[in-house]
Amino acid sequence: MSKRNHENQGEEFSSEKRIEQSTAQGQRAEEGQSRKPAKRLFITGTGTDIGKTYVAGLILKKLHQSGVSAAYYKAAMSGNERQSDGSLIPGDAVTVKEMSGICQPLEEMCPYVYENAVSPHLASRMEGNPVVMEQVKKGFDAVCAGYSFVTMEGSGGILCPICFDEKEIWLEDIIKACHLGCLIIADAGLGTINNVGLTVFYMKEKKIPIKGIIFNHYEPGNVLHEDNRRMCEYLTGVKTVAYVRDGDEELDISVELLKSLYEEEDE
Ligand SMILES: Nc1ncnc2c1ncn2[C@@H]1O[C@H](COP(=O)(O)OP(=O)(O)O)[C@@H](O)[C@H]1O
Ligand SMILES: [Mg+2]
Repeated sequence: MSKRNHENQGEEFSSEKRIEQSTAQGQRAEEGQSRKPAKRLFITGTGTDIGKTYVAGLILKKLHQSGVSAAYYKAAMSGNERQSDGSLIPGDAVTVKEMSGICQPLEEMCPYVYENAVSPHLASRMEGNPVVMEQVKKGFDAVCAGYSFVTMEGSGGILCPICFDEKEIWLEDIIKACHLGCLIIADAGLGTINNVGLTVFYMKEKKIPIKGIIFNHYEPGNVLHEDNRRMCEYLTGVKTVAYVRDGDEELDISVELLKSLYEEEDE
């Protein structure tokens, strides 16, 4: 986001910011000075609108309620609402914060926020403020320095151009620069075998570590959904770690399994 937008956003959320920051600091302090390096996880999906943000919200809620400091990060966010004062509301970040109850200030969560609902490379061509890898990494490292479990959400699916003018940056470049393993969010319904298969084949080709699959919009007992899960696991060798039904307010996974998906930078 531009400096101007960043400042506006800071003003916009300033009423709750001070309380949040002191709460966040308190929570971090409770974990003690000897807190280990942050554990990290990247959330990708088989496409846009598949439920990455929704599932991220449930994941962060579970971590937060388990008593660890959990943080959210998204390098580039497109399709955000512009307010009358010109500032942009980082929609995914607001959703995750509201769903999870985390105390992290919104300003830490996303360095690049665009208005147009197009890929970040095109949004920045239209609006300016192209993504710079060093800024993405700087923001991510700062979040990792302050929290124990950091979850980064991707833009779109796994194959997403982030910048294609000043520099060429693809989503996988960010995943690699931040040394992240990935969780794949997929739809439980028709078409998912193709989408999961192609996503995993691409990720293996690019040597991106895969931690598991979560099927969204899942209906227990639905023959198609059950078969899709079996076929995707057979095709890719990647295990399903959870299912999310429509309207779920809790993620049906043990905290231990959830935490085991996160890795330290050099693990
Ligand atoms: N399990 C679910 N139950 C209810 N609504 C959902 C669920 N998963 C996704 N949605 C809704 O579908 C829309 C797209 O999901 P979102 O998480 O924003 O997708 P993505 O982040 O992959 O683009 C949002 O309006 C979201 O609230
Ligand atoms: Mg999203």
